[in-house]
Amino acid sequence: MDICRDRTRFQIFKHVMFSSVFWLGAAGVPAFSQSPQSAPDLKKILGPNACAECHKEEAEVWKKTHHFSTFKKMPRSKEAREIADKMKIRRIKSESLCLTCHFTTQAVGKKKKPITGISCESCHSAGKDWEKLHSEFSGKTEKTESKADAALRWKKADKLGMIRPAAIYKLAKNCYGCHVVPQEKLVNIGGHPAGSPFELVSWSQGEVRHNLWYSKGKKNTKAGPGRKRVLYIAGLAVELETALRAVGVATKNKEYAFRMARRADTARKKIKALGGLIPEASEIAAIAELGYSAGLKLNNQAALSTAADRIAVEALALIEKYDGSTFSVVDQMIPGEEKYKGKPAK
Ligand code: HEC
Ligand code: HEC
Ligand code: HEC
Ligand code: HEC
Repeated sequence: MDICRDRTRFQIFKHVMFSSVFWLGAAGVPAFSQSPQSAPDLKKILGPNACAECHKEEAEVWKKTHHFSTFKKMPRSKEAREIADKMKIRRIKSESLCLTCHFTTQAVGKKKKPITGISCESCHSAGKDWEKLHSEFSGKTEKTESKADAALRWKKADKLGMIRPAAIYKLAKNCYGCHVVPQEKLVNIGGHPAGSPFELVSWSQGEVRHNLWYSKGKKNTKAGPGRKRVLYIAGLAVELETALRAVGVATKNKEYAFRMARRADTARKKIKALGGLIPEASEIAAIAELGYSAGLKLNNQAALSTAADRIAVEALALIEKYDGSTFSVVDQMIPGEEKYKGKPAK
């Protein structure tokens, strides 16, 4: 069956249909239930109150975000009930599918207990293994710890899984793992939104921004021009990677598949344009090429995940190599402050 048969219903996919995207049949791809995002280890979740013992200011900012309010609001909303009914889910707060993206969950014995909304450890990873280490200045104080010791401490924290602001790729993976909503049944059967119109700069620098620690709460530091450029480019690369994987697990010529394919197509076009602006960053052209290397069609999971894996390698290399300071030509593509999602605190 061709996508064209659904033309009237899926007007918005027009540009996908007329580009090099063709849908084949919907035969026999196994249904995938897991999301490509790496779920935190629930036994190692400390909960935001543990972080707030030191990070009071950051926690105050977080409490004003949708990530916080979803805990109470979402399960009570009419839309949530409709989705749950269609998915034959009785209690939203006991359903792991909803828990993974809307809540922070702790494992208590064999049970999973939702404790709050999307919180510190949803983005910085479960804290049990690194929480002590990252905060203890190598057994010295902030003033007496040597630079080398501090560097070693952060290296150890990274190894134990902590996701720090410097780890842009891993941070972005978490955002997109939830915000692309790579869940076919949830979208096609449940009628859940098929992803957010997410973009890393505008969505991280608005209500979510909580860079208050290093100014001791004085100001909510904005990402500087170089970092903003890297966030923008890395965000697009992770968007493409995530969307390709999402198309890879599609089994039906329905809304989910169309939306994920359109997402991948839009991302690869933007990355191609970026590659033209900064040809010296050869990784960007490589990512664009990989984005076109596997057909956006059903029954193509192997090729799509290979392309996604290779995009990840290029994206990591790019982030490692560039600080964005020489990429000013990219600024024309980055959303301005008026587009930021939600109001930043301070
Ligand atoms: C005992 C106090 C304490 C607790 C509890 C604590 N932190 Fe921290 N955190 C610190 C200190 C101190 C630093 C800065 C260390 C430095 O300046 O080298 C820091 C820095 C950070 C950073 C910035 C890292 C960077 O690369 O600049 C993040 C992110 C962070 N903490 C997250 C968390 C999360 C998430 C939790 C809860 C799981 C948590 N912290 C719990 C004291 C704490
Ligand atoms: C893969 C991640 C993911 C899963 C799984 C998921 N959601 Fe969502 N959900 C999101 C995101 C991201 C949004 C925000 C979409 C947007 O930007 O419009 C959202 C939005 C919603 C909304 C509309 C906004 C709101 O919070 O009222 C409802 C209702 C909702 N989800 C219910 C559910 C229910 C019920 C389940 C379980 C059956 C579920 N979701 C599972 C990621 C997910
Ligand atoms: C939605 C994901 C997300 C959540 C939830 C989140 N963070 Fe962050 N955090 C980030 C990102 C992204 C950055 C880097 C932002 C940037 O580059 O502007 C960051 C930066 C930080 C920093 C560095 C601050 C500075 O002054 O530079 C600290 C400390 C921190 N987070 C702690 C926390 C704590 C504590 C919580 C919970 C109360 C939390 N974060 C919740 C994503 C998140
Ligand atoms: C564990 C899943 C998850 C992660 C990780 C996550 N988000 Fe979200 N985010 C959601 C869900 C679900 C909502 C919708 C909440 C609601 O409205 O009920 C949301 C809402 C938001 C909103 C508010 C959108 C609006 O409609 O105003 C922003 C902004 C946002 N996320 C940014 C980010 C950024 C930036 C990151 C990564 C640094 C991130 N998120 C990581 C699940 C997640």
